[in-house]
Amino acid sequence: MTYDFDKAIERHGTDCLKFDQPEKRGRSADLLSLWVADMDFPTAPEITQAIINRTQHGVFGYTEPGPSYFDALDAWCAERYGWHVAAEQVTVTPGVVYALAAAVRAFTQPGDAVVIQQPVYYPFSSVVTENGRALVNAPLVYEGGGYSIDFDELERTIRQAGAKLLILCNPHNPVGRAWAAGELERLGEICLRNGVVVVSDEIHMDFARPGHAHTSFATLSDELVNNSVICTSASKTFNLAGLQVANIVIGDRQKRRAFRNAVSASGYSQGNTLGLVATQAAYEHGGPWLDELKDYLEGNWELLASTLKDRAPQLRLIEAESTYLAWIDCRALGLEGAALERFVEDEAGLWLDCGHIFGKDGDGFIRINIATQRAYLERALDQLCAAIVARR
Ligand SMILES: Cc1ncc(COP(=O)(O)O)c(C=O)c1O
Repeated sequence: MTYDFDKAIERHGTDCLKFDQPEKRGRSADLLSLWVADMDFPTAPEITQAIINRTQHGVFGYTEPGPSYFDALDAWCAERYGWHVAAEQVTVTPGVVYALAAAVRAFTQPGDAVVIQQPVYYPFSSVVTENGRALVNAPLVYEGGGYSIDFDELERTIRQAGAKLLILCNPHNPVGRAWAAGELERLGEICLRNGVVVVSDEIHMDFARPGHAHTSFATLSDELVNNSVICTSASKTFNLAGLQVANIVIGDRQKRRAFRNAVSASGYSQGNTLGLVATQAAYEHGGPWLDELKDYLEGNWELLASTLKDRAPQLRLIEAESTYLAWIDCRALGLEGAALERFVEDEAGLWLDCGHIFGKDGDGFIRINIATQRAYLERALDQLCAAIVARR
C-alpha cells in the first residue's frame, strides 16, 4: 500500500459537520460519529498538492473550467464507465443537491408530482417539497435481504400522480444497489413513455465493489439519455465535499438550456476556483489512490460483516454493491423511529443516520458510514454489539 488509510487524522476543530458542534444538532459530544457521508481520510496527495500550488498563486478571482478540466472528466468517465462526456454538455454547480433542486425547478411547475424511491437519501424529499412540488414515493421492494424495483408499481404510481420528474439514486444511498443496465433501461423506458424526465444522481459512482460495476444512465440509448440529467462529482470519491463542485451532464440541448436557466435564476455562475482545481487533479491523478482506498474499504466491509455475524446475528447487513454506506436491518431489536435513535445514541454511544429519516420504508434500519480508520470502526462496532448484548 502506498497510502496509509489507518493513520488517524484529527478532524475535531476543523468545523466539520461530522465531528464538530454536535450540540448544535442535539447530540452529545462523546458519541462516535459515523453519520454524514464524507470520509475520515485525507484526499489523494496529488490533489492536495494541486490545491497548494494554486493557493500559492494568491489570486482567487472568478474562474471557469478550461479544456483540460473537461478532458480530465471525459478521460475518467470514458476509461472507467465507457461514458464519453462532451464538454458542451456539462454544467458546473456547487453540488449535486443544488443540481437536484435546479432540475426540480427547471422541469416541473409548482404542484407537479416528482417521484423518488424510498428509502433514499433524505434531501431527495426536501428539494421536492421545499420547492412546492408534490412528493410521490414509489418505494423499493425489500425481499430476501435485498432491494429491487417493482416496475409495474412504478409505472402505476407515475401515471396516477401524473409525475413529471423522477430522481434516481444510482448507485443507491442507502441500500447500496448498483443498478444493472437492464433495470435502468426499464425505468428509463417507463419514464420516457410517460413524459417523466429522469435525474440520475451518480455521486457514488466510483465505489462499485468487487464483482459489481457502475452503469451510468448516460450509457443507455440516445433516446433515454436525451430524457435525462446526469449528476456527478469528485466529491464523494476523493473527499472533496467542502470544495463544492459537481458536474451535471445533459445531452439534450433544450433540457440543458432549461437547467442552465434555473441555475442562473438562482444567482449562481462561476464555480469554486479551488474546487475546480481539485476536481481536475482528482480525475487526472487520483486513480491509484482510489484503487487503494477501495481495497481498504473492502477490509472495513469484511470487519463489519464478520462482527455482526459473530456478535449481533439478529442484525442483517444488506449486501452493498456500491457506496461506503452500510445499511443494516435492525428490526429484530423491535425498535423504531425515535426509540431506535435513542438506543443508538444513549446505549451504543453512536451518531448514525437512523432509517426513518430516509422515509418510512427505512424505519428500523441504521446506516453506518464505514469510510473511516478501521480501528475507529472497530470501536464503534464494539459499542454497538455491547449495547445489543446488554439489552437481552
Ligand atoms: C446520493 C447523494 N447525492 C448527493 C449528495 C450530496 O451531494 P452534494 O454535497 O454535492 O450536494 C450525497 C451526500 O451524501 C448523496 O449521498
